[in-house]
Amino acid sequence: MSAKTSSLSAHGLVAGYGSTPSINGVDLLVSPSTGAIGIIGRSGVGKTTLIKAMTGELKVRGGRVNFDGATVGRLGIRDKKRFGVAVRSVAQNGFSGLDSRQTVQKAIEGELTKARKAGRATGASAADVIAVMFLEPRFLPRTISSLSGGERQRLALAAALATRPDILLLDEPTTALDQSLKDAVSRRLAEIVEEDNIGLLVASHDLELINRLCPTVHVLDHGTFVETGSLQDLLTSPKHEATRDLATAFPEATGAFA
Ligand SMILES: Nc1ncnc2c1ncn2[C@@H]1O[C@H](COP(=O)(O)OP(=O)(O)OP(=O)(O)O)[C@@H](O)[C@H]1O
Ligand SMILES: [Mg+2]
Repeated sequence: MSAKTSSLSAHGLVAGYGSTPSINGVDLLVSPSTGAIGIIGRSGVGKTTLIKAMTGELKVRGGRVNFDGATVGRLGIRDKKRFGVAVRSVAQNGFSGLDSRQTVQKAIEGELTKARKAGRATGASAADVIAVMFLEPRFLPRTISSLSGGERQRLALAAALATRPDILLLDEPTTALDQSLKDAVSRRLAEIVEEDNIGLLVASHDLELINRLCPTVHVLDHGTFVETGSLQDLLTSPKHEATRDLATAFPEATGAFA
């Protein structure tokens, strides 16, 4: 296991659209040493907004996002390159910056070149990289736009993992998958995160996924984290109204933890 030290942190983060920012004063630390962190909350509460602000995709309106102590919006060229391979995210729609006109092979080779240039190469082939997310070699010559939603979602995960990131931010990574793939992918992610010592942040409505991957879970509501704990504790004895709403909306999940 490599000694990874990268950290991505938010300090009093304010981000969002319009006059009332969805994220309004969030403090968060994601690093290989913190253990995986889950973010739950009702639809439209700002989970995607938070992840986009953490990756620098969305401009921060207040507070700071830091990568190894430097402000993410103001990284120099070298740090930006390092950030691009060390911090990877998979967007909710599964596209994640991949050019959908490219073939799977070309897209993954691009990721492997980035990894090599950053000194993170492992000797894995494109076929090895996609196999991690249960995609067979027959997908390599396919254009990304021809993939099904679930195939594309797994490709996006495989592409993000190809640069052997220190930090991985996942926004609803399993929405397009059937139940057996959801299970297989979440198990595989858990193994990789543990073996490669990756700092993980997952935002999802999929509580089985959150439960498997994240020992610490934050409930996002009205711009901030209103409650934090293990998913089991949050759902079985919710203290905040927003957590209570989630717990009643997922009776099967509460049952699963009973
Ligand atoms: N590009 C945009 N322009 C304007 N408003 C936006 C934009 N993207 C998101 N919003 C709004 O910001 C708020 C937070 O959206 P966000 O996508 O972060 O929610 P979410 O918690 O990820 O929801 P979901 O669980 O449905 O994915 C919502 O009210 C949404 O309508
Ligand atoms: Mg979202």
